[in-house]
Amino acid sequence: MLKNKNMPQRIKPFAPSAYQSGNEKELLLECLESNNWSSFKGATEGWSIKDVGTMTSEEAEHYGPLENRFLGGKFVRKLEGQFASMMGVDYCVSGNSATSCLVMAIGSLNLGPGDEVLVPCMSFNATATAILSYNAIPVFCEVKNDTFCIDPDDAIKKLSERTKAIMVVHLGGNGADMEKVIEIAERNNLFIIEDCAQAPGVKYKNKLLGTLGDVGIFSLTETKNISCGEGGLLITDNKKIAMKSRLIRNHGEGIVEDDWTDEELVNIVGMNYRMTEFQAAVAIPQLNDLHNRNKKRKELTKYLLEGLKGFNEVLIPPEIEHGVDYCCYMLKWKWKPKKDMITRDNLVSEMKKEGIPLSAGYGRMMHENPIFTRSLAYTKGCPFSCQHGKGTLAKYGKGTLPVSENVNKQFIWFKFINPPNTKDDMDDVISAFKKVLRKKPVK
Ligand SMILES: Cc1ncc(COP(=O)(O)O)c(C=O)c1O
Repeated sequence: MLKNKNMPQRIKPFAPSAYQSGNEKELLLECLESNNWSSFKGATEGWSIKDVGTMTSEEAEHYGPLENRFLGGKFVRKLEGQFASMMGVDYCVSGNSATSCLVMAIGSLNLGPGDEVLVPCMSFNATATAILSYNAIPVFCEVKNDTFCIDPDDAIKKLSERTKAIMVVHLGGNGADMEKVIEIAERNNLFIIEDCAQAPGVKYKNKLLGTLGDVGIFSLTETKNISCGEGGLLITDNKKIAMKSRLIRNHGEGIVEDDWTDEELVNIVGMNYRMTEFQAAVAIPQLNDLHNRNKKRKELTKYLLEGLKGFNEVLIPPEIEHGVDYCCYMLKWKWKPKKDMITRDNLVSEMKKEGIPLSAGYGRMMHENPIFTRSLAYTKGCPFSCQHGKGTLAKYGKGTLPVSENVNKQFIWFKFINPPNTKDDMDDVISAFKKVLRKKPVK
């Protein structure tokens, strides 16, 4: 159809990333009619907690007695068993969000007051606040200017005698430089936590992200590659991490035994981070379709990038980390205008007028949040100036991470790379960019 040039390029909205993949309805109905809507209970019904807590996810799915409700019901166990087997690990512990799973990860590694965790400053807030939730201290690192994942060289500069872990974020479906991260961790005796919320099913040198460190976390919130509304998955091969995570998830303090050591007891202040059976029922078919959904994302990304190749000098896609089988979660371009070209913020608003919802990077990066800049996460200045936290060299606020801050100023993001959007939808994005960038600049 011939379009009037004053009309926006696109009128209809893009399809959101949550869509059904298979038999969600059937499983949801089965769950509803079973009247087992959670099945979790903070009790082991007479079984030894160590036996139940360290049962692999495969055992819990196929052989674990369902009457033992500490590990949840049929759908939760099935989801966990399937994800563990897909990732090639012994344990998957689900939760009601990736945020809860990040908290379980920090808790289960026995991190706490005075411990520092290296973390890239560019991520969703939960990456850092999970660390704070145990009164440990996030020490923010630069991201690489081109991949937007943690810069290992900066991480080395931020090491201190208190550093206990490094948390990487595989941002936007790219992967961090895990070879260097593993080298740093081995040399300094650090745990590795992988935040894979934006990179499920992505490989690094033929190994799945999330399996390269001690513990990996995935999100099932509505905007992610697969979803059940809200939800999270933690994976590990370490039975201590699995057991402690299961205890933190499910009011664990009430069922630990009196003769446990201090190390075993630490951080078991149980919460309720359980996933419901409904969520798991929806997540199972989504999980089974992950490969296919990712494949479609890859095709759409390739098509979009091809279509915009002519603008590559100014509209710069992420550099894919060597060895990463990139699967775009959200396209994060850098806009580097030449003289006389439109500014980033005007480009975003002009594209919006054309019906293409772009966004302009993080409103505030994590290290700029007032809880950090004012050292006030908890009362009495904890954890930054409490007895154990004293002496941290961590610095917060604008200007402390110039490379990442500069990237954030250049960012323009497009998120609807997800199926069921099609190449026709990507054509609208390509045409809108061409239209806006060929207009006389509105500076
Ligand atoms: C990198 C990253 N980490 C953690 C989270 C938190 O995920 P959830 O919303 O499932 O708690 C998100 C999600 O939005 C994320 O993008």
